[in-house]
Amino acid sequence: MNFKELCQARFSCRAFEQREIETEKQEYIKECVRLAPSAVNRQPWLFYWITDEPRLQAVKTSYHRDWINDVPAIILCCKNEAEAWTRRYDTHNHADIDIAIAIEHLCLAATEQGLATCWVCNFDINQLKGLFEFPEGYEPVALIPIGYAAAEDPGKNRKDTEDIWK
Ligand SMILES: Cc1cc2nc3c(=O)[nH]c(=O)nc-3n(C[C@H](O)[C@H](O)[C@H](O)COP(=O)(O)O)c2cc1C
Repeated sequence: MNFKELCQARFSCRAFEQREIETEKQEYIKECVRLAPSAVNRQPWLFYWITDEPRLQAVKTSYHRDWINDVPAIILCCKNEAEAWTRRYDTHNHADIDIAIAIEHLCLAATEQGLATCWVCNFDINQLKGLFEFPEGYEPVALIPIGYAAAEDPGKNRKDTEDIWK
């Protein structure tokens, strides 16, 4: 797959097989995430690859959609704003940008390895914070269900090139 093919192949998958992900694939994805760039190289992130039932259930209860129930693994992605770079001209904190890049590395690496993912941000953050103990300064940004797809990409619906490139 060239990069464009990889971008086309990645899709938001909401149905997964009950199949474990091979250790080599997990390590490959973790390394691709580790190599992500970040502002001033602060790397203000922490990731949990969750497959054990107690933690999986806890994370799932914070996202109120039925499809999450059968997901075999979820990567919980956290940012740390205190560690991230803040632009002094307007005090804009870059933690969200940094972690978004790392998460997209994750999703694209997973796709390349024949796996599927879905960004999930519409979780109840307060509920999750109450269920899960995060180290000081870290807070969840996204849940990424990951595994072997049991659904196909319904197709891409995107703005036209001329509408987004000037
Ligand atoms: C930041 C972000 C948050 C998202 N949150 C959710 C979510 O909470 N639940 C969900 O089902 N999909 C979520 N998505 C997936 C989008 O709906 C999806 O990426 C978009 O519709 C394009 O479809 P595609 O990923 O299949 O190309 C999210 C995507 C992004 C990038």
